[in-house]
Amino acid sequence: MENTTPKKVPTHVSIIMDGNGRWAAKRGRERSFGHIAGAETVERVAEACRDRGIKYLSVYAFSEENWNRPKDEVDTLMKLLADTISNKLQKMIDNGTKLIVIGNREKLGDLLNSMIDFAVEKTSGNDRTIMVVFFSYSGRWDILQAAKRFALENADNPDAIKNATLDDFSHYLATDGIPEPDLLIRTSGEQRISNYLLWQAAYTEFYFTPVLWPDFGEEELDKALLEYSLRDRRYGKVK
Ligand code: IPE
Ligand code: IPE
Ligand code: MG
Repeated sequence: MENTTPKKVPTHVSIIMDGNGRWAAKRGRERSFGHIAGAETVERVAEACRDRGIKYLSVYAFSEENWNRPKDEVDTLMKLLADTISNKLQKMIDNGTKLIVIGNREKLGDLLNSMIDFAVEKTSGNDRTIMVVFFSYSGRWDILQAAKRFALENADNPDAIKNATLDDFSHYLATDGIPEPDLLIRTSGEQRISNYLLWQAAYTEFYFTPVLWPDFGEEELDKALLEYSLRDRRYGKVK
């Protein structure tokens, strides 16, 4: 396809990958079939982002609330993360992609945690593109864990707490060091944030599409990027 990349390219594109279950249901298949298709889409979209010079791609893959789904679906999603990490690690190394995984890791098993640590370590020196996977994540969890760590680390220093700036506090968020998303895409027609980057999306541009995640591709990405390039980001100021 002709490269229609607009001039104003976001540094960080984030995606709420939604609609796998409905995609499978439309085909008369079980939900896990949709999740497997959805995992394939991640790779295609990551490649497309790389081609378009997008430095950071982050994806919401599993929310804290998703733990409340039926056990077999949760098991499928855990296995899918493990398989994706092991199958795609060499490719990430070859592509110069750094992998970052963010979320409440205490809820993941030892095996999955060690696989994540291994892949993160192996790709830690890369900086061509950064792939952030939000897994067992929620925005409220992130703010709460930041508040706890901030308070505990400054327990002997009430002045540091009293005088803390937004910037001081944000260093305790799990996303520290990652620029805030410029563009947040949500697939499947839902128009809500579902406890995603509550703090970090304060001035993010939102783009909603009815396309179900397994059907999302380069053309859809380009539509979102084109719309982004036409947005006027004012950050509360006047021109
Ligand atoms: C997104 O697809 C993947 C996860 C939330 C893990 P869903 O599984 O939410 O699919 P729908 O929304 O039920 O179609
Ligand atoms: C949001 O999708 C979470 C992920 C895509 C990982 P959900 O399908 O869980 O969100 P709701 O339930 O529709 O808000
Ligand atoms: Mg959903």
